[in-house]
Parts: sequence; C-alpha cells; structure tokens
Amino acid sequence: MTATPKTEASGAASQTPRQPWGEHVTVAVEEGIAWITLNRPDKRNAINPGIVYEMVAVLDAMEEDDEVKALVVTGAGDSFSAGQDLKEYFRIPDAGPPLEREKLYRANAAWQWRRMMHFPKPTIAMVNGWCFGGAFQVLIGCDLAVAADEATFGLSEINWGIIPAGIVTKSVAEVMSQRDALYYIMTGETFDGKQARQMGLVNISVPREELRARTTALAETLKAKNPFVLRAAKTAYHHVKTMPWDSALDYLMAKSDHTKFRDPEQGDKAGMKQFLDDKSFRPGLQTYQRES
Ligand code: COA
Repeated sequence: MTATPKTEASGAASQTPRQPWGEHVTVAVEEGIAWITLNRPDKRNAINPGIVYEMVAVLDAMEEDDEVKALVVTGAGDSFSAGQDLKEYFRIPDAGPPLEREKLYRANAAWQWRRMMHFPKPTIAMVNGWCFGGAFQVLIGCDLAVAADEATFGLSEINWGIIPAGIVTKSVAEVMSQRDALYYIMTGETFDGKQARQMGLVNISVPREELRARTTALAETLKAKNPFVLRAAKTAYHHVKTMPWDSALDYLMAKSDHTKFRDPEQGDKAGMKQFLDDKSFRPGLQTYQRES
C-alpha cells in the first residue's frame, strides 16, 4: 500500500499543517514495514532541500501511523544516495539568505540525526548502491544497515575540497574504528558492501538480488519484538554510551523499572509465565508469545 501524503495533521491534538511528500521521497507501507525511498534517481538521490523537508514530514507521519512497525530507508534506482546535493544543498543556499540556509541545515540535522537516532520505531538502512558523504549520516542514523555487496561507499568530501561536515564525521567516529575512519576521510577512496560489513559500518552484506529479501527478514524479526521495550532498549543504548558507569547503572535500573511499569503488554510477566510456569518457550531462543 502506498502511504498517501497528508497536508493536515489529523486529530484534535495537533493543528500543525504537515508538509506533503511524494515528489522527492516515496513511501510504501507493506505488512507493517514502511519502505521509504529517496527518489531522485537521475541525480543519484542526492539530498536536496526537497528530500530534507519531505523526510521531516515522512518521519512525523510514520511515527503517528499505528500500522507502521518498522522503517526501511533506501534509494531509487542504482543509488542509495550520492550525499548532499552540491548544487541545491550547497551552492544555491550558500549564495542565498543566511537564515534560509540555517533553516535548511537545521532541518537536515533534525531528520538525519536526532529524529533517526531516537526514532520510536526500528529503522534499517538498505544500501542498494552509491553511498557518499552526507548519505553516511542517513546510514548511521538508522539503527541497523543491510548493504548490497556491490554497493559503493565513499567519504568523498576531501576529493572536492571540504571536510565531512554536517554531523558526518561525528557519525563515522561512532561506528568506524579510528584507523578506518581516518583512512577513508583522508584518502576519499571507495569501498564496497563486503568491506563495509568487515568494518562494522553495516550489519549485513548480501548479493544485490538478495538485498530486499534479507532486509525484509530483518524487519520481520524486529516487528516480532515488543515495540515498547524495543524503543526503550534503543533509547537506553544511546544515552548510556556517553554516561559514566555509576550514572549508567542508575539510569538503566530506573529505565528498566519504568519500562516494566509502563509496558502496555506487560511483556516481562508474560515471558516469565510462559517460560517458568507454562514451559512453552525459551527466551534464549525466541520471543515470547505476544497477544497482539
Ligand atoms: N550533488 C548534485 N548532483 C549530483 C550529485 C550530488 N551529490 N551526485 C550526482 N549528481 C548528479 C550529477 O551532477 C548528474 O547530473 P546531470 O545528469 O544533470 O549532469 C547526475 O546526478 C548523474 O551523475 P553522474 O556523475 O553522471 O552519475 P554516475 O553514475 O556516473 O556517478 C557518482 C555516480 C555518485 C559516483 C557521482 O555522481 C558522484 O561522484 N557524485 C558526487 C558524490 C559526492 O561526492 N557526494 C558527497 C556529497 S556530501
């Protein structure tokens, strides 16, 4: 099913008009998985203001849509994304009103980083081809990543005289080793999906013809988990990463109690009963039997 853009928020809670999407980004929701496609194949899905503002709208809509249980971000044609659009994201805004440029950069950081990192539903980057520069932010902003063996990655900024800015260098430093990150930042050389897997930049690399099936299988695995707990686990990971140990322990215990108290499924009780009393499942090997 194709998710249709809405121009207005529904419900009494929000009166904020919503940006539509569909010109630069398409969304298809199939069996609870939202396939979000950056859709400028002629420009190798380079990220222009259209993609930026449409993605902000798409993420808001996907958060509110109860049918959507997991997100996959990918690119149309043979590219994931060629990074920020050198003309529409850099050259034109650089020459325009500074406030417009700031607004654009803020919106870009909002979707590629803050919204993606803390998105309440699981997110997967499906890297189908070219992945350069600013596209690393999208890739790393997703919780997990599956790449085609044949995909080509590159921190190409050095090749055209800028540093990997936005928040790219920070993102890269989070997931790549110092040796790998500096090597690719400083040489601008490319690498493929298999190398990305070896470096831990993506979780899985498969031949291109298996990419969609493997990504779907991963999304199905995530869909089967308790969504409330999945969200809490992801949030906790990001927060404790930068905390001292004592604070992390305190935060995690509090978060765990909060999760148990607030979980609409009361999953821990169901899981314990099924394992200890009913002997109907083994938590080491699968997810407890959920009612919903
Ligand atoms: N910004 C703006 N336009 C881009 C773009 C980008 N990042 N990447 C590709 N395009 C445009 C090209 O200008 C070209 O437009 P045109 O048809 O109007 O001339 C079109 O997309 C196709 O690009 P082309 O270079 O012919 O495709 P290719 O398949 O031969 O090569 C790439 C693909 C990705 C290797 C190459 O386009 C490229 O190096 N892009 C820039 C990558 C980059 O450095 N990104 C970092 C940005 S932060």
